[in-house]
Amino acid sequence: MRDVYIVGVSQTPVSRDSTVHARELATTAVRQALAESSVPSSRVGALFAGNMTGGILDSQTQIGGLVADYAGLAGIEAVNVEAACASGAAAARMAYLSVAAGVHDVVIACGLERMTHVGRDAITRALATAADWELESSKGESFLSLNAKLMRAYMEKHAARPEDFAPFSINAHRNALTNPNAVFHKEIGVDDYLQSRIVVDPVRLYDVSPVCNGAAAIVLASADVAAGLLGAGRARIVIAASSAATAPLALVRRPDILHLQAVETATQKVLAQARITHADIDFLELHDAYTIMTALCLESAGFAARGTALELGKERRIALDGDLPLSTMGGLKARGHPVGATGIYQLVEAFLQLSGLAGPNQVKNAEVALVQNIGGTAATVVNHVLRRIG
Ligand code: COA
Repeated sequence: MRDVYIVGVSQTPVSRDSTVHARELATTAVRQALAESSVPSSRVGALFAGNMTGGILDSQTQIGGLVADYAGLAGIEAVNVEAACASGAAAARMAYLSVAAGVHDVVIACGLERMTHVGRDAITRALATAADWELESSKGESFLSLNAKLMRAYMEKHAARPEDFAPFSINAHRNALTNPNAVFHKEIGVDDYLQSRIVVDPVRLYDVSPVCNGAAAIVLASADVAAGLLGAGRARIVIAASSAATAPLALVRRPDILHLQAVETATQKVLAQARITHADIDFLELHDAYTIMTALCLESAGFAARGTALELGKERRIALDGDLPLSTMGGLKARGHPVGATGIYQLVEAFLQLSGLAGPNQVKNAEVALVQNIGGTAATVVNHVLRRIG
């Protein structure tokens, strides 16, 4: 396997503007990432797109080829990768593997999603197709109700109160304030959290990531190509490891719903491949689609013992200057969660952090990042470790 570098990134502002078009957002992101990398488009071997709902909401599949065409890359290998909310990272992993295996020298991974042009019921139903249809969605479950079930079970088992979950949301909203690409620029406190409406008991509005639109792109290259591109003084960001794991889609098929087995497996794999331990990680971009997901991910990934994840938030350890910064640009909660694009936004943000380009959100001296993107209630988990070299 060859080393794989990220040599260009781009993101469009996440929005709730229902007039945007996914292909235009993606075209902008791909063209900008390529321009930033200074790789000529003739050198791009493939494009992997991450999109979840295009086929369901817009009657549009074959999105890989569509984006390649509109971005001026017609003719190259191009495929859409669908793994629900993990589609973006799954596309990045395909891109990573094809460069690492020597199939292509330059590959683009992009993520795109348009969600706000349909009503709330339609988007909730579209998202619910990622649960087990026979056992969950067809019986009326949605990701709101499934996460409510997880949160209720966690609160009962660990005697947690609603306000114990607030720090994750407060931290995300605080970090999003200074991210121009975030959908929310609104600071919140514990009172705002507690007063926010209950969406599905006990999940409140401020426990949940919003429905929104966006596209982002990264350009991956082999060491030879990267060496020819990178200007003096520019940090070199390598994908030190990539892993993926799955678990049963349906919660009823899991022996313990409060343990995310795929998160544990994928995290162990990625740490082993990168030859690092938890202590080496300078910040985390986790899948904070719901505050309960953040808590379960921290525990299942081994950053907190069972029942103790909420303490990390209370102790302010998750802030930009803490020992385990989370959601450094606002996370899914406040940067936004345009589902199939989210995994690419996370990688773009980690790249900016490791390159020292995160502005007011900069995590000081960051060298190693863990980026974790999840589909469903952690049925698909895709991890990447990014490292700054030199
Ligand atoms: N957090 C904070 N504020 C939010 C919000 C969120 N997640 N979602 C919407 N809002 C705000 C809007 O900005 C708007 O504020 P304004 O009136 O000041 O402009 C207000 O709430 C109403 O917005 P609207 O879009 O009409 O809300 P809604 O009730 O239709 O949707 C949710 C709210 C929580 C139901 C919706 O965001 C949702 O379904 N989220 C979950 C998405 C999901 O499950 N994704 C997949 C994860 S696996």
